[in-house]
Amino acid sequence: MNGSAGGQIDSVMQEARVFPPPPEFAARARIGSMEEYEALYARAKNDPESFWGAYAREELHWFEPFTKVLEWNEPYAKWFVGGKTNISYNCLDRHLESPRRHKAAIVWEGEPGDQRVLTYDQLHREVCRFANVLKHLGIEKGDRVSIYMPMVPELAIAMLACARIGAVHSVIFAGFSAEAIAERNHDAEAKLQITADGGWRRGKVLPLKETVDQALEKSPTVQKCVVLRRVGNDVTMKEGRDYWWHELMEEASTDCPAEPLDSEHPLFILYTSGSTGKPKGIRHTTAGYNLYTKKTFEWVFDYRDEDLFWCTADCGWITGHSYIVYGPLSAGASVMMYEGAPNWPAEDRFWDIIEKYRVNTLYTAPTAIRAFIKWGDEHVEKHDLSSLRLLGTVGEGINPEAWMWYHEKIGGGRCPIVDTWWQTETGGIMMSPLPGATPTKPGSCTKPLPGIIPRIVDAQGNDVPVGHGGWLVIAKPWPGMLRGIWGNEERYVEQYWSKIPHCYLTGDNARVDEDGYYWIMGRIDDVINVSGHRLSTIEVESALVSHPAVAEAAAVGRPDEIKGQAIAVFVVLKDAEPSDALRDELRQHVRQEIGALAQPDDVRFTTALPKTRSGKIMRRLLRDIASGKETVGDTTTLEDYTVLAKLRGDEE
Ligand code: WT7
Repeated sequence: MNGSAGGQIDSVMQEARVFPPPPEFAARARIGSMEEYEALYARAKNDPESFWGAYAREELHWFEPFTKVLEWNEPYAKWFVGGKTNISYNCLDRHLESPRRHKAAIVWEGEPGDQRVLTYDQLHREVCRFANVLKHLGIEKGDRVSIYMPMVPELAIAMLACARIGAVHSVIFAGFSAEAIAERNHDAEAKLQITADGGWRRGKVLPLKETVDQALEKSPTVQKCVVLRRVGNDVTMKEGRDYWWHELMEEASTDCPAEPLDSEHPLFILYTSGSTGKPKGIRHTTAGYNLYTKKTFEWVFDYRDEDLFWCTADCGWITGHSYIVYGPLSAGASVMMYEGAPNWPAEDRFWDIIEKYRVNTLYTAPTAIRAFIKWGDEHVEKHDLSSLRLLGTVGEGINPEAWMWYHEKIGGGRCPIVDTWWQTETGGIMMSPLPGATPTKPGSCTKPLPGIIPRIVDAQGNDVPVGHGGWLVIAKPWPGMLRGIWGNEERYVEQYWSKIPHCYLTGDNARVDEDGYYWIMGRIDDVINVSGHRLSTIEVESALVSHPAVAEAAAVGRPDEIKGQAIAVFVVLKDAEPSDALRDELRQHVRQEIGALAQPDDVRFTTALPKTRSGKIMRRLLRDIASGKETVGDTTTLEDYTVLAKLRGDEE
């Protein structure tokens, strides 16, 4: 591990802007002041068991009550021990006896422009029918079901139907290859595959069934496959293995009571690629995850019943699991769901959707925001975005310049921004502003949510002083935490619980400023060490992005005989032409913004950065390119191999 020697990192970033919550927003918010936040935080910290216990009793339905809030057998947690509940019941049935019964649960738009609305009542019936289909196909409690689908309501229906009968879903993002599906199916020993004929992406058909056919050749545990007709493209149906969704649904009854499940019954497995090797099947369970996603959804997005909430992630990622499906539906929210690309048929598709449906909250990724900036403000200015009241970001740090653009151009200067820090492993948001309470600072995820106890430590586990970077760890269990890695308990202990005693290791670096605000500095493995100073990738990148010519940047270290490491940066320009003069200007710019130490040694221009499918910059690959090494390890998460090829071409 790159950062393991001392653990401390030097911070060079200076960001002085502070944005208090607008008074009109705070006046109506669930949590409307820092005093309220602090009181809630203190309550959770002083007595976590009664804090979470009370919420769990009040806000979830119990077939049988739990007898103990937490059983902590480090590093194994059991929350709400002895209780029986069902997350599908909490997302659906619970609302049927309330005024939410006929309220929109899912407002969906397909890429070609088709629209559907499913009320809670309708969604409940569809989920019940599909749960009966699962039973009919022989799926039982505990069986694993692999889902590889486009962003259509049936994806959420399939997830909720699994949860209803206690089957464990493994959703695989519909951009993954047949190889990747087969590897995950094999690891989870999936019994059933659910897919669609195809999906729409930038006007073209993604042939999902064709990919699944190849994957199933190498997935011996999968016995059957259900195929949704979405696009109408030709597919091969294998007799005795493949079934049409609509045919099975025709015969299925809408009566399917939710199965009472143990609080710790596994809900899903979600694969996330580590920096090396085999993807990890992150295992989440029922009651703790349910409560945590519901409460964090309500707190962070200040959800109100009249809101339409739009999280632009795909259900193939944790963000979609927690903040399209389980959190919002448990809270009785109306969620917007969109199938396709943000730039189809034009670069204003998101703004068109917001105007058309009067979306109130937009939750998206910094990588998307940087793309919007590059595409130009004219696409935004065409639309009325006045329905928006709150904006959110997730997935990586947001560079202060991108934050300012989001605030001004999308939020019209009036919407708070919640920069939410969390991970697949944490199940839900861990650190974020509360929009009616927390003054925000561009680039900071601000403060931990109630019940979350972060620390920043060096490699020996000592707390580092204020203002210094170090390893971000979490010192106490929380209800949404992962319970393990599917089929590999040693890796769970090794990866998360062995480095710092009694703490969960997040794998991120961070620092706290004098106001107690957290600043994420990037992954531990990505630290750049220049002449004994550890620099964070995000700080160098943010300095570059603050130059008017730069759309996006990635900073990595490469070996240097004198300095230990030299800084290599990869820069995507807005529309300026690459030149030696601009290269020098950018080096000077970083020097001015953060100091001589951080001045990049190499500046490479590129048309795009290599990203994982979830939009994270592949720094490992860039490091290899910067040091002239061959790429090693797993690159199945590359978004676009041509990007890599292009970068390599640039080098020669
Ligand atoms: C890693 C987790 C959590 C859902 C999406 C990603 C980075 C995430 C932020 C943020 C800075 C962030 C961290 C984290 N990250 N949110 N607001 N600021 N960094 O889930 O794929 O499990 O990735 O994403 O490095 O560890 P994931």
